Amino acid sequence: MNVLILGAGGREHALAWKIKQSPECGSLFIAPGNAGTATEGTNIELSLSDFSAIGDFVLKNDIDLVVVGPEAPLVDGFRDYMEGDNRFSGVGVIGPGKTGAILEGSKDFSKGFMERNGVPAASSRTFTAIEIEQAEAYVRQHSLPVVLKADGLAAGKGVIISPDHEDALSNLKDMLVGERFGEASAKVVIEQYLDGIELSVFVLTDGEAYKILPAAKDYKRIGEGDTGPNTGGMGAVSPVPFANEEFMRKVEEKVIRPTISGLKAEGIPYTGFIFFGLMNVDGEPYVIEYNVRMGDPETQVVLPRISSDLLKLLKAAADGELASAIIETSPEVASTVVLVSGGYPGPYQKGKQITGLDAVPQGPVVFHAGTRVKDEHVLTSGGRVMAMTGLGKSMQAALKQSYEAANAVSWEGITYRKDIGKDLEAFSG
Ligand code: AMP
Ligand code: GLY
Repeated sequence: MNVLILGAGGREHALAWKIKQSPECGSLFIAPGNAGTATEGTNIELSLSDFSAIGDFVLKNDIDLVVVGPEAPLVDGFRDYMEGDNRFSGVGVIGPGKTGAILEGSKDFSKGFMERNGVPAASSRTFTAIEIEQAEAYVRQHSLPVVLKADGLAAGKGVIISPDHEDALSNLKDMLVGERFGEASAKVVIEQYLDGIELSVFVLTDGEAYKILPAAKDYKRIGEGDTGPNTGGMGAVSPVPFANEEFMRKVEEKVIRPTISGLKAEGIPYTGFIFFGLMNVDGEPYVIEYNVRMGDPETQVVLPRISSDLLKLLKAAADGELASAIIETSPEVASTVVLVSGGYPGPYQKGKQITGLDAVPQGPVVFHAGTRVKDEHVLTSGGRVMAMTGLGKSMQAALKQSYEAANAVSWEGITYRKDIGKDLEAFSG
């Protein structure tokens, strides 16, 4: 089976690493990929918004399956493009069409979807710029803190949590009238603050059947002790100690099943991953957001814990035969520590030479994100540069591997959190 993975991050390197392990994997291409994906398959310079160039590549290279890493091509209709042209009729796509991708593409839509389908979520209301006065009145009587969300995709920056009404009002105006996030904040969702612990739950579905993948916890803030600005994710661990059997049963009953049956009931075909961003509030799951893809860096701890053949699972999903597929997970603990460029998530420099990759000990897996090769040197080319995944019998053992790998490499300005997993020690004993 020839496979094309779309994307360039640590998530896509992890997908390539896992897919390549399948005996059924023929040629593997990653577009555009990074220095790490180039060691798993062949990187292809393609723009993810140029669907016709991707389509031409698929035909020329007899691609059987396209795995879409990030959300943007899905929200923009990549699947719809492929389905609309019968030259691609034999090609499977992992990732929903536009009607499914809107679960991530519009917070307003996803809030409505959750409400219609009885999926537990924070109570909320959506306002547009012409409703600014009603929005302000709504904020004034809202409980604190107030959560403001840009409706559309805002590169992970569209959520503002205001500690008081004044701050909320000024941010609200900035978003709705000042177009702080451009078109994405033409609508703003104002929602209740959920006080709990976050976790990420993933399923693979063909629209009928679903398989639950290992859960993970992401560390979003740049600073230790969860301080400072939000990032794409600074580390992750799996399993999540507080996501025990009882909690996961609730997640399946109250969140996953109503979501899958809601998609069916609303006539939304869906083939791909659903990423449930959840808040555990006193043992009850609430959905903070849906994403229509895997998480990054969660993928870097989820996939190493899947012992079954991922490519077979993806193919089964693409063929609508997921019900008969089997997913097996390993009881081992995985951790990943993300190494970032100095300055990230603010402005940062690229092109720094990475040293020490040869000195990474056996054991941990190095997943590249923002890296590229130039004149045989590996250079930084993004904010999140690489993710060091460790695997072990305990979280301590996994973290030891992650940090040994992190300590081995270096570049000017390298930054990473030293406290990944620390908050979970109380749970894991
Ligand atoms: P999102 O962009 O939807 O992932 O939101 C970014 C982050 O904001 C989440 O990971 C949460 O930490 C936080 N957040 C979003 N919605 C809420 C909420 N209703 N209550 C508390 N925290 C929230
Ligand atoms: N790590 C969170 C995300 O992928 O959205």
